[in-house]
Amino acid sequence: MNREKLNVGMIGFGARGTLLLRDIILPLGKADIKSVCDSYEDRAEKAADQVEEVQGKRPTVTLDYHEVIADPEVDTVIITCAWEDHIAIAIEAMRAGKAVGMEVGGAYTVEQCWELVRTYEETKTPIMMLENCCYGRREMMAMHMAELGVLGTVVHCKGGYHHDLRDEVSGGEKYRHYRLRNYLNRNCENYPTHELGPIAQLLHINHGNRMVSLTSTSSKAAGLHEYITDRMGKEHELAHAAFAQGDVVTTVIRCAGGETITLTLDTTLPRYYSRDFTVRGTKGMYEEVTDSVFLDKQHEAYDFKWKEQWGNAEEYSKEYEHPMWKQYKEEGVRGSHDGMDWLVFREFFDSILNETSCPIDVYDTAAWMCITALSEESILAGGRPVMIPDFTKGAWTTR
Ligand SMILES: NC(=O)c1ccc[n+]([C@@H]2O[C@H](COP(=O)([O-])OP(=O)(O)OC[C@H]3O[C@@H](n4cnc5c(N)ncnc54)[C@H](O)[C@@H]3O)[C@@H](O)[C@H]2O)c1
Repeated sequence: MNREKLNVGMIGFGARGTLLLRDIILPLGKADIKSVCDSYEDRAEKAADQVEEVQGKRPTVTLDYHEVIADPEVDTVIITCAWEDHIAIAIEAMRAGKAVGMEVGGAYTVEQCWELVRTYEETKTPIMMLENCCYGRREMMAMHMAELGVLGTVVHCKGGYHHDLRDEVSGGEKYRHYRLRNYLNRNCENYPTHELGPIAQLLHINHGNRMVSLTSTSSKAAGLHEYITDRMGKEHELAHAAFAQGDVVTTVIRCAGGETITLTLDTTLPRYYSRDFTVRGTKGMYEEVTDSVFLDKQHEAYDFKWKEQWGNAEEYSKEYEHPMWKQYKEEGVRGSHDGMDWLVFREFFDSILNETSCPIDVYDTAAWMCITALSEESILAGGRPVMIPDFTKGAWTTR
């Protein structure tokens, strides 16, 4: 292709799509937005206004995503809609030869992950999950430290999506937000990739390692009911709703290399935001919650007074900042989510424009997304272990 710009059709203009368009995609200047789509007309029109203001030309507006994919002017489709349609849209776009950038989310069935992989293998149309947390500064620094051997042999990683979403979920009808219907009807690790993405990259999943099996266990669901009755009143239409989604879901994944990964979904109880990203190796650890690095033979004296070292990771960034971030800081960090949104979109656009492989490919996308469907199965079976498919069909040993 080797062109200056992509011709993009974008689907989904809720909170995320609207922010990405304004703060990342238009300012990056690597895409002409040709078509915008949302099931809600007001949202699609508002997105078109935004595009027209910057590009000087109004994109096509549609409420039907099939029209975006069929549009001959569009060569790249960006999916920022609700979770349920991510994979179906991606598959249809790939079959039409349109490159795909897909926002994060989990899968509903393992079979649809296989279909995604088969579609890629048949069409070779590039697809990338836009997992911004893979470009988080500390995630990348920890990955760099692991690559340099500073943490020794990595044995265990943990992460979580700790985010109080009680307002977003319970305000579902008012906000027209998709999370409400999911929380009413499913109980699973519904949002694994913010923490699993960087961990999978650090553990070389699909590149010499793979996730083999998992168990998931769910707590009861009490947070939303109490929040709704307390804040919205006992007469509210959701006051007697039976939420399927447990407040805290814990998933333990075992890898072929012997490592374990713990994921926690924690979105309906009061708390602060955290991805709880933690890497444990034979020579040391990084921990996001205290933003600290603990190294063997350096920090033993602090083991019972670790508070004194909280925040020491910044010191280590002088030596271990990831090279991509070092350069990015010199250029000037831009955009939302502490700069990682900018990086993930820049990497996606560049890989399509330069025809290089997507840094998060279809095998990563399928492996990370299937955790949601498998966790649902494990929870339903009382925490029974379930096998995680090898979407590379053996190629992980040599990739
Ligand atoms: N990477 C991140 O940091 C991050 C942050 C927030 C959200 N997200 C992801 O972005 C996506 C959207 O999240 P959101 O919070 O903006 O949700 P939202 O509910 O606010 O918006 C989703 C929009 O998609 C539209 N939509 C749904 N199905 C559609 C279809 N078939 N065709 C056309 N339009 C459709 C809805 O009408 C809605 O306007 C989700 O996948 C979410 O996980 C990612």
